[in-house]
Amino acid sequence: IPVDEFDLVIFGGTGDLARRKILPGLFRRYLAGQMPRGSRIIGAARTEMDDAGYREMVSEAVAEFGGPEKADATGLADFLAALRYVAIDATGDGGWSDLAALMRDGVVRAFYFSVAPSLFGDLAERLHTYGIADRNSRIVVEKPFGRDLASAKALNDTLAAHFNEGQIYRIDHYLGKETVQNLMAVRFGNVLFEPLWNSHYVDHIQITVAETVGVGGRGAYYDKSGAMRDMVQNHLMQLLCLIAMEPPSVFGADEVRDEKLKVIRALQPVESHHIVRGQYDANGDTPSFRADVENPRSFTESFIAMKVNVSNWRWADTPFYLRTGKKMKGRASEIAVVFKDLGHSIFEGDTARHRNILAIRLQPNEGIDLQVTIKEPGPGGMRLIDVPLDMTFADALGDDAEPATDAYERLIMDVIRGNQTLFMRGDEVEAAWAWTDPLINGWEARNDVPKLYDQGSAGPEDAMMLMHRDGRRWRDVKA
Ligand code: BG6
Repeated sequence: IPVDEFDLVIFGGTGDLARRKILPGLFRRYLAGQMPRGSRIIGAARTEMDDAGYREMVSEAVAEFGGPEKADATGLADFLAALRYVAIDATGDGGWSDLAALMRDGVVRAFYFSVAPSLFGDLAERLHTYGIADRNSRIVVEKPFGRDLASAKALNDTLAAHFNEGQIYRIDHYLGKETVQNLMAVRFGNVLFEPLWNSHYVDHIQITVAETVGVGGRGAYYDKSGAMRDMVQNHLMQLLCLIAMEPPSVFGADEVRDEKLKVIRALQPVESHHIVRGQYDANGDTPSFRADVENPRSFTESFIAMKVNVSNWRWADTPFYLRTGKKMKGRASEIAVVFKDLGHSIFEGDTARHRNILAIRLQPNEGIDLQVTIKEPGPGGMRLIDVPLDMTFADALGDDAEPATDAYERLIMDVIRGNQTLFMRGDEVEAAWAWTDPLINGWEARNDVPKLYDQGSAGPEDAMMLMHRDGRRWRDVKA
């Protein structure tokens, strides 16, 4: 789908996200021929710098984070020529007239707020005061979008003072992941799955997002956030919505988001004994979570597992088990739809429990596998075994496979195209917080202490029990 010529302003254009993700991503799109001639990327930040200085910085960022194409020197020179830089004072007047003078008429104007949310209001206001944003302009904002319902509402109000909902692109980068979109293709593009996609046939659903990294240099942020706010309220919630939602009538922005919103509103409050919070322990010389966040009394969770019920006709008896954590044994994320047992087996002596499982692997090794029961090959009679019908996208598509597109670059291109399907609407974000708030308030009021778990493990023992109590178990998610 073609992209119109654009001016993209990145506030926070010298920051970490810009250097790691946004600029290398744009470079890859440029190389893929998706950045129309004449389009420009304008970095804006506090630091005094000229265009040449910014190009130098971006060229280093691309070399460090750009991926396999980074060696293409001619491409890089052309890309760098499309860059401009404006030193700007987000809370004052410095630089705004310069930015206004740079903007061109007749092209898409997009503004990426890659800055602290406390600056959103200042930026939005100045974009209007200086006549930089018009009715067709788009703004892009990042998580954290609030830390509870009240702050999310305040942020929405701040943005709504200057932009309408159709102009606001709230990024959840999980929605830009290839397999996440494939989830919708698989569900709604095949006749096979949808008839079974309900509590008559689905025993339960597991969503796992396991990371091997710790909190890195983000201790201060993370200690105030924890896995619930950092991952569940947004990324896991979005995955849950895409699995649980009713089929939208068309794959359109509001149609999809209306259906997701209904799922969030149907989420039941989670009982406290259905939530397990964990914190990674020290391991020899490797510091503990508390040491990483430099807070010896931290009660913040670096792991969480929970059992969630979606209270509607389709899912009434099918629990969703979610878990996510840092410093786990592998970086492996998947969604598994575990189907019910057969009601009756015609095979004498076959007492094993055979289950169909549809596993959608997000990362690494993106793909889908469907566990089916077949006859064990050979003369041994009717012995049944379970095997995966594995479809690793890279294998299935072979040479036709597009080089991996990072979630960010896909989403930025959607902003330019004006397609909001893969962005969170304001009411969705608020509904997600409305569900999250009481759970967090609950454990804070109980002074809940997270369970320690070993680094490189599958999380605390209690998380296993959460499933065992129900006669189920987590899948061993392999990295
Ligand atoms: C971010 C979280 O939103 O997602 C991080 O703030 C987390 O804590 C990251 O590590 C995970 O993203 P991905 O794409 O690596 O799975």
